[in-house]
Amino acid sequence: MDHLKVKGGIPLHGTVSASGSKNSALPLLASTILLDGETVLYNVPNLSDISVMIKILNSLGMRVEACPDNQVRIWNEKKIRHIAPYDLVTSMRASFFVAGPILAKTGFAKVPLPGGCLIGSRPIDIHLKGFADLGAEIKLQNGFVELRARKLKAARIYLDFPSVGATENLMMAASLVEGVSYIENAALEPEIDDLADILIKAGAKISGVGTRCIKIEGVPELKGVSHHVIPDRVEAGTLLIAGAITGGDVTVTNLNVDHLEPLIRKLKDCQFGLTIKENTIRVIGKKEFCGATIETLPFPGFPTDLQAQMMAILSVAKGTSIVKETIFENRFMHAYELNRMGADIKIDGNHAFITGVEKLSAAPVKITDLRAGAALILAGLRAEGITVVHGLKHLRRGYQGLPEKLGHLGASVFV
Ligand code: UD1
Repeated sequence: MDHLKVKGGIPLHGTVSASGSKNSALPLLASTILLDGETVLYNVPNLSDISVMIKILNSLGMRVEACPDNQVRIWNEKKIRHIAPYDLVTSMRASFFVAGPILAKTGFAKVPLPGGCLIGSRPIDIHLKGFADLGAEIKLQNGFVELRARKLKAARIYLDFPSVGATENLMMAASLVEGVSYIENAALEPEIDDLADILIKAGAKISGVGTRCIKIEGVPELKGVSHHVIPDRVEAGTLLIAGAITGGDVTVTNLNVDHLEPLIRKLKDCQFGLTIKENTIRVIGKKEFCGATIETLPFPGFPTDLQAQMMAILSVAKGTSIVKETIFENRFMHAYELNRMGADIKIDGNHAFITGVEKLSAAPVKITDLRAGAALILAGLRAEGITVVHGLKHLRRGYQGLPEKLGHLGASVFV
């Protein structure tokens, strides 16, 4: 089934637990190319993007098994193939994470140019510039990137933009490069910490994570480890927004409060009631709430991955709200679908001007990318009538059992 029906107007109540982070699990899986022997990852979300990454690793000559209870077991017998499969890599941008580890491990990587959500052109120039700084020769031909180096050399790499993926790819590659490398203007996202944690457990010498300059002292080898993936801040945030937009009372457990600070600030600006404990946030929705001004920024700024979901809420907030998207150039497709449900959103370049309306009405809508899909379901939970949301394959890439979790909170979500 590629569609979902959402009955609106039911306030959600109850407690749900956040799953493991997709954006952490993907680079963690790629990092196991560097880790000799057996690795066990816990709290890996069951998602189609994760299945793609597992298939890529298997095709590279590793043995990877997804087990029940969100465990993934990986055996790396040091026989890594150089070429990543075209069909799989082009279906998901994050599969380019294997480039750095294959290069560092074997000296030659041939990886297709990546694909992914339709939210902008999303080049990989920052990754490639960093690999070149580490001494790799780079060739682009027939849709593949070829990276080659007889011996990589330590380098001081400056990222023109604090790209999450480039920071991860280069940190993985540099961890096996003799000498001391630096990544300057590195990303600060929590997923970078998680990746550094597994590499450090495996024997890497990495410091400065969480600052703009990461120092990596290369080691000759890294060993398999056990590791628990951090909670998914985007999923947790989406569930909190579901509680708020329906005027409900929802508690999300098993999350990291620090990772959700930017969302907490904006929900407070809207004047929702929040109770925050160590690993738990409770949101109490209300009938009328204020709008907000949001600018997406690299962490600790407001995450682009929660922009669409917040836009759903702002579409029924009092007054006019403004959303500025600075990370991706084409990430407002959900606005046009929200307008089909009665929202009043005007787009001008990278700004969205949202005039809050009293009610949304059900309509057939189409998911264009992962987080847009979440926004449309949230709007459907609020709208009058039954909203039919098409394009569920996008949602399955990044939300483990979202319909079931919403159902557990009392939502009527069905096929
Ligand atoms: C990661 C997340 C994604 C999130 C994004 C920004 C994963 C698997 N995905 O994506 O969910 O929305 O961070 O928080 O972790 N850019 C370039 N050249 C590059 C690399 C990036 O121009 O070489 C641009 C991108 O087109 C984009 C911006 O930089 O406009 C941010 O990209 P980046 O931080 O790299 O995001 P991803 O790692 O792709």
